[in-house]
Amino acid sequence: MRDVLSLYSEKVMEHFKNPRNVGEIENPDGIGHVGNPVCGDIMELYIKVKDEVIVDAKFKTFGCGAAIATSSMVTELVKGKTVEGALKISNHAVAEALGGLPPIKMHCSLLAEEALKSAIEDYLTKSKKGKARRHKENAKCKIQ
Ligand code: FES
Repeated sequence: MRDVLSLYSEKVMEHFKNPRNVGEIENPDGIGHVGNPVCGDIMELYIKVKDEVIVDAKFKTFGCGAAIATSSMVTELVKGKTVEGALKISNHAVAEALGGLPPIKMHCSLLAEEALKSAIEDYLTKSKKGKARRHKENAKCKIQ
């Protein structure tokens, strides 16, 4: 058991034992749902966006320790980033911020990247619809 734990960096263990930003955001601007069909782990990531900047992020992960640590880290990394900047966060950047992951656990960091991208896509879809609706309403006002 001790040998297996020695594969993980102190930072991974710290984020696994004390994950940051666990939970849901009330009225989120974007929600990402992803799962790994091989291991069965599931991740949900919520974002709050203001003026194209991610001001809050939370997660709920049903998964392994690496999945929990990477969820925790990705929510820390995205806060304060623009939506565009957040889209550039790769699973390698998340793993690196955690001091690395054992090669066999790199796929867990991929789940964190996919959850973030899924939440951003959800935000972009909703905001486009919102913009289109507001544009339509404005057009109606000008016609009247
Ligand atoms: S084993 Fe499934 S995400 Fe880690």
